[in-house]
Amino acid sequence: MHIIKLNAIDSTSTFLRQLSGEKKLENYTVVVAESQSKGRGQMGTSWSSNPGENLMASVFVDVSFLAIHYSFWISMVTSLAISKTLKELYISNVKVKWPNDILADQKKISGILIENVIKNNRLQACIIGFGLNVNQGCFDNLPLATSMQMVSRKTYNLDAILKKVIDNLQIYMTQLKDGDFTNIKDLYEIELFRKEKPSTFEDAEGSLFSGFIKGVSKSGHLQVLIEDGVIKEFELKEVTLLY
Ligand code: BTN
Repeated sequence: MHIIKLNAIDSTSTFLRQLSGEKKLENYTVVVAESQSKGRGQMGTSWSSNPGENLMASVFVDVSFLAIHYSFWISMVTSLAISKTLKELYISNVKVKWPNDILADQKKISGILIENVIKNNRLQACIIGFGLNVNQGCFDNLPLATSMQMVSRKTYNLDAILKKVIDNLQIYMTQLKDGDFTNIKDLYEIELFRKEKPSTFEDAEGSLFSGFIKGVSKSGHLQVLIEDGVIKEFELKEVTLLY
């Protein structure tokens, strides 16, 4: 594993993406920064973090073995790698909020941003960016955020956690490459936040409805049991699970 450590950068994902366009990168090249000035989140949001207290890293992974319509599987294996790492460090009550927010005690402890490198309509590689809240003691104005320190009252070594995340990512990516889809989907669905519990959702038009999360489809759609025993599938921008 090749690690590039930076003090400050706009975004580790932007940096790694640019680098991948300039030269051929070793699989699992990692960029990690102490601070980001323009940390990017999902769907155009931003990601902020106290300098030096949390993990902000991006990993270049060759996913040319994966069909483009299965790109959600990258989210599944990344979510599993982070949740496995947290469990190995005895963080309790870890869940994955579809599609790929990691929660501890029902609050967000880690966020994942996956950007695909596509050529001639085929997946070539991806840049997996993740922020993991480790030693930050509080999040002003973010009541639904937490950190490992807030959950366990312990202080952690960031390098050791990064190594564990990358090791676990390699384990699950290898399973994906080997075609072990059933195991990955089963594990992901076990981790799903509010699975089989009555939950409230908001659709793209802002209307609320209730249902039970049943699982995910092979293409990553969320399967929700709504009234009359109907299971409806939702794409990423079509639905939000309200806490
Ligand atoms: C989310 O919105 O939940 C995803 C947040 C992802 C943040 C990480 S921090 C490291 C990497 N670099 C970025 O600019 N974003 C990701």
